[in-house]
Amino acid sequence: MSQCVPLDIQFVRDQFPAFHHESTRDWAFLENAGGSYVPHTVISRLQRFLVETKVQPHGPYDASKAGGQAIDEAHAHMAEMINADIDEIVIGSSTTMNVYVLANSMRSWFKPNDEIVVTNQDHEANNGAWRRLSEFGVRIREWKINPFSGELDLNSLENLLGNHTRLVCFPHCSNIVGSTNNVQEIIRRVRKTGGLTMIDGVSHAPHQAIDVKALDADFYAFSLYKTYGPHLGLLYVRRDHLQRLTSQNHEQITDGLALKLNPGGVNHEEAASLSGITEYFDSLYDHHFHVPEPRRHRRITMLFDLLSDHTNRMCFHLIRYLKTVPSVRIIGNGSESPKVRAPTVSFAVKGRSSKEIASTLATHKVAVRAGSFYAWRCTQALGIDPNDGVVRASMLHYNTMEEVERLISSLEEIL
Ligand SMILES: Cc1ncc(COP(=O)(O)O)c(C=O)c1O
Repeated sequence: MSQCVPLDIQFVRDQFPAFHHESTRDWAFLENAGGSYVPHTVISRLQRFLVETKVQPHGPYDASKAGGQAIDEAHAHMAEMINADIDEIVIGSSTTMNVYVLANSMRSWFKPNDEIVVTNQDHEANNGAWRRLSEFGVRIREWKINPFSGELDLNSLENLLGNHTRLVCFPHCSNIVGSTNNVQEIIRRVRKTGGLTMIDGVSHAPHQAIDVKALDADFYAFSLYKTYGPHLGLLYVRRDHLQRLTSQNHEQITDGLALKLNPGGVNHEEAASLSGITEYFDSLYDHHFHVPEPRRHRRITMLFDLLSDHTNRMCFHLIRYLKTVPSVRIIGNGSESPKVRAPTVSFAVKGRSSKEIASTLATHKVAVRAGSFYAWRCTQALGIDPNDGVVRASMLHYNTMEEVERLISSLEEIL
C-alpha cells in the first residue's frame, strides 16, 4: 500500500461513460448491488466484437479466429482474476442459471436422506435450485439467520452438520444484510464433516478480490454484471468436481471441461468484452501503483485494498448518519471495522414504506431501490414485509462522498 497514491476518483469516473452522459451524469447512482456501471474498455470490446468478429468463432478464417481468441482470452483473464484455472470457470447467462445447471448436474451425487444445508439469508439463486432436489429424496436443512441482526451464526451451523451433510450453500455476503460471512471458517467446518460448499459471492465480488484457492471453495458463483461487466454470471467449479459432474450440454460435446455446465454455450460478444474488466483494473493499477507486478491476481488484490478503503469510508459515513435517526433499523453489522461488511446498506424505517422512500429519493436524483431483492426469505425472517422490503443503498469505488452526502441530506428531508 505504501507504494501507491490515494484513489484518484476523477480518473476512476472518467473510465465510465455513464458519469459523463447527459441522461445519467446528474444522478447519485447508489443501486450498485443491483448492477454496476461499465467502463469504456468493456463497451469498446463489445462493440469491436460486434463490428469486426460477429461470426461463428474458432473457425479457419481471420474474423472467426480473432473472435475465438477474444473469447478465450477473456476466459483466461476471468480465471486469473479469481485465482482459478481456465478450465474451472463457467461463464453462463447469470448466477441463477449457473446454479440451476450445477444443481441439475449434481443430482446423481445425492442419495435419499443425504442432506443439503441452505440458508434463509441467501438470494433465491442459491436456494430454489437446491431446495428442489428434495423431489429426489434429498433432505433440506435450513441454516436460519438471527432475526434481529440478520446474521448467520456459526454455532447454529454446527447443529446442522452431521454424517448426512453433503453440501452447504451460503452467501459470502447477503445482498440485504451486507455483513461478510466467515467463509473460510464455514468451509473448514463443513470439510471436517466431509461435505462440500457452494458459495454465492455475488454481493462480495464487486468489493474484494476473490481467491477461490485460498478459500478452498468447491463451488463459487458471482454475477459479472455487478463487477463492471455485461449481463453474465461466472461459476467456479473445482476441477475434480467438474470431471465427475454429469454434462448438461449436447452429448457430442466432450472437449472443454467447463462446457459441461454451459448448455448452448456462452454469449460470444459479451464474453469477449470481459477482458475489458481486467483492462480497466490494469489501468487503475498502473495509475495508482508504481511497482510493476506481473501476477494479475496479485495486482487485483492490491488494487481492491485501495478501493475498499474508499468504499468503507462512504459506507461508515452513511451508517453513522442512519444511527442518528431513531426510527431507522439498520440491517446487518453496523460496526466500523473494515472487512466486516460490504458497502451495501439496507434499512427500514418504522411506520414508513420502504418503496415510498426509494421513490421519493428518486425525485432528489438519488437512485436507490427498495424491496426484498429476491431474498424474500431473509426479509421475512427479519420480520419485514417482503413486499415492501428494505431501502438499499449500495456503493462502489466509483461513488463519491458527495453522492453519499446527497443521499443523507435527502433522507434528512424525507424522514
Ligand atoms: C446475492 C445475490 N445472489 C444471486 C443473485 C442472482 O444473480 P443473477 O441475476 O446473476 O442470477 C443476485 C442478484 O441480484 C444477488 O444479489
